Amino acid sequence: MINKIALLLEEVNQLKAETQEELEALRIRYLSKKGAVSSLMDDFRHVAAEQKREIGQRLNHLKTQAQERLNHLKEQLDNGDTAGDTADLTRTSHPYHVGTRHPLSIVKKEICDIFARLGFSIAEGPEIEDDWHVFSSLNFADDHPARDMQDTFFVAHGADLLLRTHTSSVQTRVMEKTQPPVRIICPGRVYRNEAISYRAHCFFHQVEALYVDREVSFADLKQVLIYFAKEMFGAGTKIRLRPSFFPFTEPSAEMDISCNLCGGQGCPFCKHTGWVEILGCGMVDPNVLNNCGIDGEIYSGYALGMGIERITNLKYQVKDLRMFSENDIRFLKQFT
Ligand code: DAH
Repeated sequence: MINKIALLLEEVNQLKAETQEELEALRIRYLSKKGAVSSLMDDFRHVAAEQKREIGQRLNHLKTQAQERLNHLKEQLDNGDTAGDTADLTRTSHPYHVGTRHPLSIVKKEICDIFARLGFSIAEGPEIEDDWHVFSSLNFADDHPARDMQDTFFVAHGADLLLRTHTSSVQTRVMEKTQPPVRIICPGRVYRNEAISYRAHCFFHQVEALYVDREVSFADLKQVLIYFAKEMFGAGTKIRLRPSFFPFTEPSAEMDISCNLCGGQGCPFCKHTGWVEILGCGMVDPNVLNNCGIDGEIYSGYALGMGIERITNLKYQVKDLRMFSENDIRFLKQFT
């Protein structure tokens, strides 16, 4: 008897009905006078006295369950909700695996947001470029090594098409079309003919910033650099400028920040110098302004460029550059 009740209970809990007719049939089958539950009730008479209490309770439970199940099915049919039969509304919401932003996208956005607060707007240019925008307009000498096939990917032999090696090409694109004031930040992917290893890749990402107006000075550049470094790496960050050379800026500098891992004390990451290099910058060479149709006698400007991978490494200590392009979910989902 106990077994029979248990089996019937299981059956009742799984009942389904898609129409009112099916529901009525179920009611007759289980709850009518000759239904399955009622006939068990009839058998109750033959149960031994000492078992009556337990079996009685089980039978009552079965009966209420059957009634509740049929009421539930009726409610669903009345609401036109037949599919929701198996829905468990008490369950926590479905654990959707939403993707995470790529670490390079996170850092790119952070850089762009900092410059946006200073009034810079985003500009983009093509990845397939020509010699003028990547090299000539930016004052590269004819025999500059970057023009060599060893360093640059050319799209077709003899054609003036190449993959841009830096986002400085966007400077030219924008200045050719816009008279000062120009205040832009240009994020994008760049390509160089490098052997792929843990510390170099044949493509990577840069952000370029350019400000051209009347009376823009090196002091303005320095203020922006200090602001950027502190916003990006924390208020305690110090910067250091070292003289450098780029064809498109004069004077040029490279900027180091105090190592954000050891706080400038010296560690393996900063090779015990306390400083790490993060970007190149300088005052836009008047030749570049003139090449783009902006009068270099009247206007001046500063530019700076940095690698997003480099900044990301400083923030997250990713040891192998290749991780950024391998799409390994285990790596990617660590960044939120
Ligand atoms: N284009 C340079 C590079 O790819 C980076 C750079 C240096 C950009 C100095 C600049 C700059 O605008 O002023 O290495």
